Amino acid sequence: MQRFDTIRQNLLERIAAEPIPRDVLKAPELKELYSGIGSLPPEERGDYGKQVNELKNALTAAIEAREVELESATVEAIDTTAPWDVNSAPVPLLPTEQGTIHPLMREIEYLSDIFARMGFATEESREIDDQYHMFESLNFPKGHPARDDWDTFMTVEADKDGDQFIAPAHTSTMQNRMLRKYKQNLVGGEPIAVVVPDRTFRNEDLDARHEHTFYQIEGVYVAKGVHAGMLVATLQTMLEEYYGKNLNVRINPYYFPFTEPSFEFALSCPFCEGKDPDCKVCSGEGWIELLGCGMIHPNVLRAADIDPNEYTGFAFGCGIDRLVMMKYGIEDVRHFESAKLDFLRQF
Ligand code: DAH
Repeated sequence: MQRFDTIRQNLLERIAAEPIPRDVLKAPELKELYSGIGSLPPEERGDYGKQVNELKNALTAAIEAREVELESATVEAIDTTAPWDVNSAPVPLLPTEQGTIHPLMREIEYLSDIFARMGFATEESREIDDQYHMFESLNFPKGHPARDDWDTFMTVEADKDGDQFIAPAHTSTMQNRMLRKYKQNLVGGEPIAVVVPDRTFRNEDLDARHEHTFYQIEGVYVAKGVHAGMLVATLQTMLEEYYGKNLNVRINPYYFPFTEPSFEFALSCPFCEGKDPDCKVCSGEGWIELLGCGMIHPNVLRAADIDPNEYTGFAFGCGIDRLVMMKYGIEDVRHFESAKLDFLRQF
C-alpha cells in the first residue's frame, strides 16, 4: 500500500511537469506493478489488481486534465525575423559564425545588378513545371529527338493529358512566360528585356563538372530590328563587367530547337587569360565554351502571340555555377551544394 502511494505521488508530480504527460504511462514503475500480479498467491490477486486499476484510472484522469490545460495554455509568440543579439546567445559566437550569404546567391545578385544596369528586369523561375514550358513552347514538338538531350527529372504523377511534370532542366522554361508577361512593352515601343537566374535540375552522372542541381541565367530580348550583333555585344559587356576585365569572345554555329540561328558562345579564359598552358580552368586552351544562345525562333515568338514578322529577339542561357567557378578558381561544382562550412566560409 505504502509503495502504491509513493508511486502515485511520484507519477502525479511528473504528469504536472512533463510536456507530454501521456508518456508517464510508460514509466517502468507501472510495468513493475502490472507484472507483480503473476507472482502473488491467487487469493491476493483480486485486491492487488483492483488497486493497480484504480491507480491507472487516477493517472489517466490526471493526464487528461493536464492535456486540456496544456492545449488552452497560451504560448508567447516568437518573432523569428527579429534581429538577433549576439551577446545574448547561450554560447558566445564569433560574428563570422552567424551565417553568411551563399556564394551563388551573392553572385546571382551581382549578375542581376549588371543586367539591371543594361535595362533588364529580373524574374524567378520555379522548381516544378510542365512539359509545355519545357518543350512545346520552345519549338520541341512531341516526340522531337532533341527532348532527350536534356536529362530531365519527371514526376511519377501525370496531368490530365498524361504528361508528367518536370523539374526544369533549363531556365528556358520561363521564356514563354516572360514573353507574355512583358509583351505589353512592345506596344509602347519598349523592348522585352528580362533575365531569369534560378535553379535547374538534370539527371546527370555527377563529377567535378556536373551536378544534378545547378543554376542558370536565362535572358530574352525582343524589339523591332534586333540582330545577332546585339546579342554578342550584350553578352560581352555582361562578362567583362562580371570579371572586371577585357575579354575576347567568339561564336560558333550550334543547334537548339528554340533559336535560329543558334550559337555556342566562348570567351577567352578569364582565369589565366590564355597565358597558362597548365590552367585548370581552360586546360591551357585559352578559350571556354560558356553558353548557348541565338536568335529566338519564330515559332517561340508565335507561341507567345508575338508576330515574328514585326519583332525579332535574342535569347541566351548560361550556367551560373561555371561563371562563379571561373571567377574564383573553384575546381569542383559539387562544393556549392555540399554544405561544407570550410568551403562556404571562404566567401
Ligand atoms: N537552354 C539551353 C541549355 O540549357 C541554353 C540556351 C541555349 C538557352 C540557347 C537559350 C538559348 O535561351 O537561346 O542548354
